[in-house]
Amino acid sequence: MEWCMSMPKVELHAHLNGSIRDSTLLELAKGLGDKGLIDFSQVEHVVLKNDRSLSEVFKLFDVIHILTTDHATVTRITKEVIEDFASENVVYVELRTTPKKNEAKGMSKRSYIEAVLEGLRAISSVDVCFIPHSEELKNHSNPISISAINDKCNENTRKKIFVRLLLSIDRRETTEAAMETVMLALEMRHFGVVGIDLSGNPAVGEWVTYLPALKFARGQGLYVTLHCGEVPNSREIHDMLDFLPERIGHACFFEEEHWKKLKSTKIPVELCLTSNIRTLSVPSIDAHHFVDLYKAKHPVVLCTDDSGVFSTSLSNEYKIAASSFGLGRKEMFELSKSAVEFIFADNTVKEDLRNIFSLAAKNLEL
Ligand code: IMP
Ligand code: ZN
Repeated sequence: MEWCMSMPKVELHAHLNGSIRDSTLLELAKGLGDKGLIDFSQVEHVVLKNDRSLSEVFKLFDVIHILTTDHATVTRITKEVIEDFASENVVYVELRTTPKKNEAKGMSKRSYIEAVLEGLRAISSVDVCFIPHSEELKNHSNPISISAINDKCNENTRKKIFVRLLLSIDRRETTEAAMETVMLALEMRHFGVVGIDLSGNPAVGEWVTYLPALKFARGQGLYVTLHCGEVPNSREIHDMLDFLPERIGHACFFEEEHWKKLKSTKIPVELCLTSNIRTLSVPSIDAHHFVDLYKAKHPVVLCTDDSGVFSTSLSNEYKIAASSFGLGRKEMFELSKSAVEFIFADNTVKEDLRNIFSLAAKNLEL
């Protein structure tokens, strides 16, 4: 575990509200309980429960959203989630979250994302690079050379984490609401929003509802990742793969035809081992499709999905891969490094990350 912690890592599938520390959730629940707004003991039970089916997970998210959806809390959880990733040597995170309206709190989808950005700005324990490079140049009031910015970003004295944001469309939303999220993502590009995710309860809604928004996003140059095959739904999986998203998440209930298509298209897959086991989306870790995809040299990246809800961390996911699939240190390092090629940030970030991994390989004597 210590070694998995020390290795640089890339997190590409983390939901903000699924990644909250239990201690923070309980503190928030206590606060609302003291005000008589919720029944604390019931919420405590739900938060601390460990084994949940996929449908129970979505009930938990409804509880979490009651606790978190005001500006100050969104800012706080964003700050804590990124600090937690940085503390285990995650060097790049694509954090995804569903922009929410909460009229009682004066919250719009836009102000929700502004609160997320506020959380990124509030972090002081580590350098957070979330403004894309080209924007840093444009917005700097004094003319500054590219090399000066590179110097600032490359300094080794302080720990650094790159953060990019994906805005999620929830499968409960309408086409119009999804389009609103895509428009917001476009407006927020200069603050590091790079793409769109489709998530939410896979038993709810039809993905075609979001196709116009997803197509529009793609046409505007946003990247798209889809939760795909979390439940058996052959037709949907087929059509999602036809769409050629830049990445997909999970791929648990794929059939032969889907595997063929996936492998021929080389779409990278975000794999979340603990999440799949906890929600019973795969029968056992030995039967996890990681093994087949890894052997086939298909692009895969280990991710946490919901580190808070599933009590895991990215280091733990690597540890599980090592112990369950017999990966050695070098293989784990290569797996971690290969994720750099599937990120949605630009080439300057990729180059920076490649350098971080080269340096780490020397330090870890690989
Ligand atoms: P948020 O987008 O920051 O509010 O993070 C929580 C949301 O992410 C949930 O309400 C779901 O819409 C989505 N989500 C989290 N985990 C999963 C999953 O395993 N499958 C599908 N959607 C998920
Ligand atoms: Zn997910």
